[in-house]
Amino acid sequence: MLSFQGMKTSTKQSAKKLWGGRFSQQTSSLVEQFTQSVSFDQRLARYDVAGSIAHAEMLRKIGLLSKAEAAKIISGLKAIGRDIATGTFVFREELEDVHMNIEAELTRRIGPAAQKLHTGRSRNDQVALDERLYLRDILAQVGTEVAAVQRALVDLATRNKALIMPGFTHLQHAMPVLVAHHLLAYVEMFERDKSRLADAAKRANVMPLGSAAMAGTGFALDRAFVARRLGFAGVTSNSMDSVADRDCLVEFLSCAAMLGMHLSRLAEDFVLWMSPEFGFIDIGDAFCTGSSIMPNKKNPDVLELLRGKCGRLYGNLIALLTVMKGLPMTYNRDMQEDKEPVFNSADTLLAALKTLAAMLRTVTFKPARLAAASDDAFLLATDWADYLVTHGVPFRRAHELVGKAVALSIGRKCRLTGLNAADLRAISGEFDPGVLGIRTAAQSVNAKKTVGSTNPRAVERELAKWAGLLAAQPGRRPGTK
Ligand code: ARG
Repeated sequence: MLSFQGMKTSTKQSAKKLWGGRFSQQTSSLVEQFTQSVSFDQRLARYDVAGSIAHAEMLRKIGLLSKAEAAKIISGLKAIGRDIATGTFVFREELEDVHMNIEAELTRRIGPAAQKLHTGRSRNDQVALDERLYLRDILAQVGTEVAAVQRALVDLATRNKALIMPGFTHLQHAMPVLVAHHLLAYVEMFERDKSRLADAAKRANVMPLGSAAMAGTGFALDRAFVARRLGFAGVTSNSMDSVADRDCLVEFLSCAAMLGMHLSRLAEDFVLWMSPEFGFIDIGDAFCTGSSIMPNKKNPDVLELLRGKCGRLYGNLIALLTVMKGLPMTYNRDMQEDKEPVFNSADTLLAALKTLAAMLRTVTFKPARLAAASDDAFLLATDWADYLVTHGVPFRRAHELVGKAVALSIGRKCRLTGLNAADLRAISGEFDPGVLGIRTAAQSVNAKKTVGSTNPRAVERELAKWAGLLAAQPGRRPGTK
């Protein structure tokens, strides 16, 4: 059987179990199939090899392996690592998991020296180590792809920085905003996502090996040495916690769920914008799909899937939280169920982020439609109220007066700016007809003064800030795979 990543998995039965000493019957094939994790945890193989090499080096350092034994083990592991990298290593389901597959193959290749590798180690701390090594890579990769999406958003915003659109609350016209300001709102969300991922990485970057099954070990293992070899910031402090803890995986799934929520909101805005009713954007043909029956259709399926993938990202978080809930100390086999949700969320996010970044580069805004939608004088109602405030009317009263003007224009089926000075004076003597000078969306955005507002000069500064910040960050450049 060929499984994912081109790795091979064989289903041949009845290998000698590495834990078989106390058993007198052969394991049922049903149990082998039910309990195996190698069909999915083989994705941890290269981390398992790296962890084992560091462990062997440490065993040599403290004298539990001879120089010759350590050399044999390490070169054997490196050869296995190469086979894993090229996809030629054959994983066997009857050997249960990635750890025992690699150890059994090492034994087959180098003989008795391999039997010393597991000294002072349990699969309980081994799997915890592998998962942290994997997670460190994934957290960095996801962060890089989030930055690529941010760059694509900043570029899109910069290309369209002169455009004004209606801003919405309750999906109703609220106030004019710059398209760039709207796009930069997502850049902010994604920045918080990156910061959460980086924060999760700090807690993942602590080394659990040396906790053994759960109580630590009587061998004087040099845990700090292993941590240094593998680039960890330090070692875990409680052996029981080390093998029982899956917090860092839950944290990743939580970051992934929140990121998915942001992606789904962006997707929904773009779906709306591409509808004929909005007509604000078009998306390149290469990033849309058609209908099998309606020849006219050009559908934003990529966006809909970005929105829909959120479901599994939430589901994966709830799955692992539920697996972990109420588990007694310390390791329990339930915890094997941690891997598939984590792999799934990682794969989902990486694919979603890469596709989104590429799709954003094909988005075009339609200036005429945006101008027509922004040419709604009701979008200026708050600016009118603010004008009255600057001319001595308390805000609540100004709100009421402009509200009456809105009602009058609705009744007359005219624009708010279609009323004249006499109409306003008729509403109240306090109604300064100077408001009639506020007639365009451009005036509205230009009048904004607060930090973080949609004022074009402020947005311009933000665009420059983000371009600089994102250029300084590591990450994939546009157009690369
Ligand atoms: N495949 C196992 C897991 O992922 C590895 C640890 C198994 N430990 C044990 N004592 N059975 O959780």
